[in-house]
Amino acid sequence: MSEPKPKRLGVLLSGRGSNFIAIADAIAAGSLTGCEIVCVLSNIADAPGITTAQQRGFATEIHVSKGVPREEHDARMAASLKAHAVDLVILAGYMRVLSPGFINAFPDRILNIHPSLLPAFPGLHAQLQALNYGTKFAGCTVHFVDEAVDHGVIILQKVVPVLDGDDEAALSARILEQEHTAYPEAIAHVLSGEYRAHGQRYLHIG
Ligand code: GRF
Repeated sequence: MSEPKPKRLGVLLSGRGSNFIAIADAIAAGSLTGCEIVCVLSNIADAPGITTAQQRGFATEIHVSKGVPREEHDARMAASLKAHAVDLVILAGYMRVLSPGFINAFPDRILNIHPSLLPAFPGLHAQLQALNYGTKFAGCTVHFVDEAVDHGVIILQKVVPVLDGDDEAALSARILEQEHTAYPEAIAHVLSGEYRAHGQRYLHIG
C-alpha cells in the first residue's frame, strides 16, 4: 500500500522563527513524520525567520500588515494558505490577533504556541508575568486557536521550574527549549488522528 500523502503545514511567523526551525528540523530528522512545510508566511518583511526559511529553500511570502486593515490583511494570508492547500496552520511567533474570518477559514486547523501554562498569563511577556506573579513553575502550551487570545483547546503543555536567580531572559530560554520539543510533538498528536476534543479537553482515543 502506498504511503498517505504528507499533510501540508503552512507556518506564520513575525520574528526569530526558532519554533519554525525546530519543526523543520524535526521533519528533516524524521522525528516528525507524515507532514511537510509547504509555505512560510510573515507579516514582517525583515523577520529573521523568513530569511532562514528562504535560505533553507522553503516557499515564502511576505504580506506586510502595517497600515492594512486587519480583515484585509488576514484575507491575503488566508488566500495564500489556501493557494498552498495547507492542512494545518502553524502560528510560530506570529504576533497578530487573528480576525474571525481567518479563524473560520481553517476550523480546528490553526495551532499556536504560547510561553506560559495557559490559562495563566495570556498576552505579551508571559514569562515576565510568571516571574512577577512569583509562580514556582512555568512552561509552554500548544493549543488550537479560537476567537479569544491565547485560548482554545490545549493539545499539550511542558513545565519548567522557575529558579530563584531567574530573570526574564533566563526563564524564557528555559521555556523556549521546551517549546522546541512541544510543538513537533503537538503536531504529531494532531496528525495522528488519535486525539479528540471533548469540550476543552484533548483526549487520547487510542
Ligand atoms: C515563542 O516564545 C512563542 O511561544 C511565542 O513567541 C515566541 C516565538 O519565538 N508565541 P520564535 O520566533 O519561534 O523563536
